[in-house]
Amino acid sequence: MTAELIDGVAIAGRVRADVAVGVEKLVADTGVTPGLATVLVGENAASQTYVRAKRKACAEVGIQSFGHELPATSTQQEVEALVRDLNADARVHGILVQLPLPDGLDEEAVLAAISIEKDVDGFHPINIGKLGMKGRDPLFVPCTPDGCMRLLEEAGAQFSGANAVVLGRSNIVGLPAAMLLLKRDATLTVCHSRTKDLPTVCRRADILIAAVGWGEMVKADWVKPGAHVIDVGINNKWLEHPADREFTCAASGEIFTAHRQDESEKGGRKRAGYLDEKSGAAYSREHLPEGQSAEGLVKLFRKYKLVGDVDFEAVKEVAGHITPVPGGVGPMTIAQLLSNTLRGARAAAGK
Ligand code: GUN
Repeated sequence: MTAELIDGVAIAGRVRADVAVGVEKLVADTGVTPGLATVLVGENAASQTYVRAKRKACAEVGIQSFGHELPATSTQQEVEALVRDLNADARVHGILVQLPLPDGLDEEAVLAAISIEKDVDGFHPINIGKLGMKGRDPLFVPCTPDGCMRLLEEAGAQFSGANAVVLGRSNIVGLPAAMLLLKRDATLTVCHSRTKDLPTVCRRADILIAAVGWGEMVKADWVKPGAHVIDVGINNKWLEHPADREFTCAASGEIFTAHRQDESEKGGRKRAGYLDEKSGAAYSREHLPEGQSAEGLVKLFRKYKLVGDVDFEAVKEVAGHITPVPGGVGPMTIAQLLSNTLRGARAAAGK
């Protein structure tokens, strides 16, 4: 049997279309345009990409976005002062502080400084606390786990009494996903690095959410036939390229594998370093010396493929429903963020 694919792109598209209609109606009824403030501290490349995607998605549904970029050297006081300014800004209905923050900043204090009415990530301790408590409802639910629940609903999963297993207990995904499943009366197991005999525990799952950040960890014999499998992982799987060879970084001494720009296909590649053809010196991506311009150097690449935490090709032969990577959970995170921002704006406008 081959599992039915849960199409995150299509489902996220419907959420976004609903948000666009909701935004238009809110503006027409109240004159309030929903606004999202993004706060990006430092230069983490993945975070830059995520924030860019979030702001672009806002523009597409009529939500205003206000981008704030602070240097990695910012102090705790500076970051918290920005959050307080945004709390007070009436144009802003949602505040998103992209995680992780650079080392040295106190994430807990920054998240706690966000007004719970603007906490569209749902990470404020009051919102997370209410998510975990019986009979309480948070103002906002974290976007990725909420997106997972929507995917499961669309795929017809029954929650009440189902055996649900969450692999991973991160604050962003695993823990809130577990709380949401419990709220829906699933019988819950949360697995982590100390869990004994993972395959046996996972095999009991009618609903399996994998969020550990370990490429293709969940194998076919970990999965109950017919289970709903949600794959939150986004991992780079490095592939061999015919032109790959080893370079020694002239700055750090590390040895890295890569091939030259002109031997590479576009797409599915990542920058691995630089080669100075004149001197023959190579530099890994992280160790281009200060003041040395990349201009005039040959770019070196590695080939990769995005894979989830689930061995998709094998598991799809066992599961009943499964999300692909990419195209499963990823698009839902942004869709839920837009939906949360609209909800914040509606509440602010008394709607
Ligand atoms: N980093 C990874 N995922 C998320 C998310 O959903 N929200 C924020 N703020 N940071 C993240």
